[in-house]
Amino acid sequence: MRVIKNPKEMTKASRETRAKGKTIGFVPTLGYLHDGHKALISAAKKENDVVIVSRFVNPLQFRAKAFAVYPRDEKMDIAICRDAGVDCLFSPSTEAMYPEGFDTSVEVEDLTGRLEGARIRWHYRGVTTVVAKLFNIVQPDRAYFGKKDAHQLAILKRMTDDLNFPIRIVSVATRRAGDGLALSSRNSMLTPEERVAAVVIPRSVKAVAQMVKSGNRDRAGMSKTLRAMIEKEPNAKVDFAAVVDAETLRDDVYGASTLVYTAVFVGGKRLTDNMVVKSKT
Ligand code: PAJ
Repeated sequence: MRVIKNPKEMTKASRETRAKGKTIGFVPTLGYLHDGHKALISAAKKENDVVIVSRFVNPLQFRAKAFAVYPRDEKMDIAICRDAGVDCLFSPSTEAMYPEGFDTSVEVEDLTGRLEGARIRWHYRGVTTVVAKLFNIVQPDRAYFGKKDAHQLAILKRMTDDLNFPIRIVSVATRRAGDGLALSSRNSMLTPEERVAAVVIPRSVKAVAQMVKSGNRDRAGMSKTLRAMIEKEPNAKVDFAAVVDAETLRDDVYGASTLVYTAVFVGGKRLTDNMVVKSKT
């Protein structure tokens, strides 16, 4: 497995791969890889000749304090990628991605402001900016993203269409621990008590998804129920809870499927979870 740090070198390696007629599957990550990332890697391996993973803690999508404490372990990431049969790990420095004078941003306008996006527009702007850069550097045929980050996924699909990136976005089901908690690098920051408390998140999301399935259309009511169910756990503070149309992320549109979405602080760590369910017709 090659480990590449330099963006120009990455582009050169990708061009050589494509010149040989091989397809490239790309899995962008923040690193500190876990089984959720591995689900993306194995989906990419099935559909492409070559798999490239990127690990980059993107300062544009974090507040300074969260950026400083985000877990990092390059050696572990290299070992996991090697073990998973990844062909190339792109692991650039902050300076290589954002050299002196960097001054451009990419923003998906309406969709970014949906859900809790109005409050953290800057975060999604950071995500779309870095993913646009990574797409140009890696030039893959397909890029893999988790359904775990439903808002991010919707925004990145829109960006890819709007900017004519010749890349297929593939979404992969959320991988969960045995007790239902969605796998996340942030789970490693939870104390044992917080880790137990966090199980209230998937349980409540699932219960509300069940209400949608059985025909409940009172989205405001179900959002309140979701919040109340989660906050029965004293360690959990709901930052955001919503039930919306899965495609437009609007609460006044009733399309084919419905998204039950929440972001919750457990011991100060922000965890997100969601489920998409077919709306009852
Ligand atoms: P990160 O949080 O490292 O996640 C990388 C990818 O793994 C994302 O597409 C995310 O949805 C997916 N993922 C995370 N946990 C998962 C799980 N339990 N099951 C399935 N997939 C899961 O998301 C980011 O990084 C960044 O914002 C990034 C897109 C790399 C841009 O910086």
